[in-house]
This record gives sequence, structure tokens and C-alpha cells, in this order.
Amino acid sequence: MNRLRAAIRGAGEALALSAHFAAPQHVDAVARAQSWGPRRLQRLVDGLLLEGLLLADADARVRAADRWPTGDRGAPGAALLAQIIQRDRPFDPNQDGLSLRVESAALSVAGLLSDATGAPARELGARLATTLPTTGTCLDAGGGWGDVLAVLLAETSEIRAVLVDRTDRVAMARQRLARHAARLETVSADLVAYAPAPFADVALLNNVLHEHGPRTGATLVARVAHTLRAGGELWIKEPTRGGAEALRACLFALGAAIFTAEGDLYDAATIRTWMTDAGLTDIRTFTLASAPEATVYAGRRP
Ligand SMILES: C[S@@+](CC[C@H](N)C(=O)[O-])C[C@H]1O[C@@H](n2cnc3c(N)ncnc32)[C@H](O)[C@@H]1O
Repeated sequence: MNRLRAAIRGAGEALALSAHFAAPQHVDAVARAQSWGPRRLQRLVDGLLLEGLLLADADARVRAADRWPTGDRGAPGAALLAQIIQRDRPFDPNQDGLSLRVESAALSVAGLLSDATGAPARELGARLATTLPTTGTCLDAGGGWGDVLAVLLAETSEIRAVLVDRTDRVAMARQRLARHAARLETVSADLVAYAPAPFADVALLNNVLHEHGPRTGATLVARVAHTLRAGGELWIKEPTRGGAEALRACLFALGAAIFTAEGDLYDAATIRTWMTDAGLTDIRTFTLASAPEATVYAGRRP
């Protein structure tokens, strides 16, 4: 996390934000004046506000604190971050050079991927094992390499699972979960177009929505909600915006801005609206002990 924080401070220096915000300005106005992307600049500014390098007033105008320069301009990832904000396009491993790849590895490890695997996946899998009916079916939509299903299938004997993801992920998941092949179906598909007849008792969207813009986010929730049988539940897990882990959430949101075309971290009201619009009821939230920075939203299909 400290590496990403240094990269944020360094990017702020590389973009001369202390000069652009010498007088109070709205972020959009600076982005417009410099022809930078407002959404990506806003995510960097959010980080610099938490670092105390920028200050916001009651009208959401931002000005530089008296703490520049910070000496982080050469931090790994700083130049990449500045460049991505200037060009307003996400990191592209095919077009960006080797040095950017190295910098991107530093950023992604620190910011974007740290929440997606490990203890939270184990806890979620174990919780599903005690929630699903004994012979129930779980859909892991955007299930990645199958971390959650590995636990669910290992801890149960009759539950069946379906993992949907893009081709490369599905191939890896199938390999990793080979010993559960009799109870696992893997589907290589874009979730936006995934529309099977309802079959799932619980469907998961675990760390998926932040990869997409709001319109696709709403579509994914609707698509996945439609796979539920009557009485089935959709569980969505995403890092919580703001709250006690504000810095972590802020870095995660910045990661979404760096590595995806339109991704963002959504607030609770937005996710609840998507669930309600998808016809889900009894929406509740809980957190996992191993992932206090995230919220799980659960809603039932009537
Ligand atoms: C951050 S990873 C999370 C993986 C897994 N759910 C976990 O938490 O370990 C997001 C996953 O969602 C998948 N994904 C995102 N959008 C998708 C879409 N439209 N169709 C299929 N898979 C998608 C990605 O390929 C990736 O595997």
C-alpha cells in the first residue's frame, strides 16, 4: 500500500497539481483545462486528499496544501499514473512499453489485486457451504480462477457449481478444480450476454463490478439476478467506498481507474438500486471478518 501511496504523491508532482490547484478549483475544471480525463484525475485527487497534499472546501473546490514538493516524483508507478491520467486511457499491456509493465506490476499488486484472493475467498466459500441447500447450485459469475468455489466444493459433497468467466480464466479454473469436475460446470462467456434459464440458489458477483462502468454494472446485476431460482440469493462483494478503510478503498478505486476502461468503486446506494431494479428484495449487507474493507450485499429473488 505504501508503494501505491508514494506513486500517487509522485504522480501529483509529475502533473504539477500544486500549481494547477494553487487557487481553489473544481477537479472537472482542471481536467477540462488540461484535456485530462476527469474521472481518472478525480481518483488521483481523492488519494491526495487523504494524503493531506490537497484540501477540499465545502463547495468541493480543491487547493494544494503547503506540503509540496514531496520528493516522490521518481517513485515506481508515478510516471505511469501521470501518463494514464494525461492520456485518459487505461494501462494496455500490448501497447505500453516494458518499463510501464514493471511499474504496472508494482501498482496492481499494491492496489487492485490485494483484496481479490486469499482469506476472503476462503471465508466466502465456507459461508456459502453453510448457506446453500445441501443439493443446491451456486453460480460464481466472474469467478476468476475459482478460489471461492475451490472451498465451497471441498467443504460440501453434493452442491453443484457453475463458474462463468472469460476463456483464459475458465481454462485455469477448470484445471485448478479438476478434482471436483463432476460437480462443476465452467462456462466461457461474457456475462453481459449470459442468459440461461434460472438455475442458481446463490449467485456470486465477487469483486467484478468495479471492472465496469455503471451501465454495464447494472446490466451484470440484472443478468446474474435472472439466473436465480425463486427464493435464490445474489451476493455481491465489493470494497466499501469511504468508511473505516477509506484509504484502502480509495486506492482500489484508483486501481480500477488505471486498469479498466470505465471501472469504478460504487457506493452502497448505487449497488442497492441495481439490485432493486433487477427485481431483488430483502436486500441486506454483511462483512467478512477477513475483509473488513468490503461489503457483501445480499438480495433475494421473490
Ligand atoms: C477481480 S476478478 C475477481 C475474480 C473472483 N471473483 C475473485 O474474487 O477471486 C474479476 C473477474 O471477473 C471477470 N469478469 C469481469 N467482467 C466479466 C464479464 N463481462 N464476463 C465474464 N467475466 C467477467 C474477470 O475476467 C475476472 O476474472
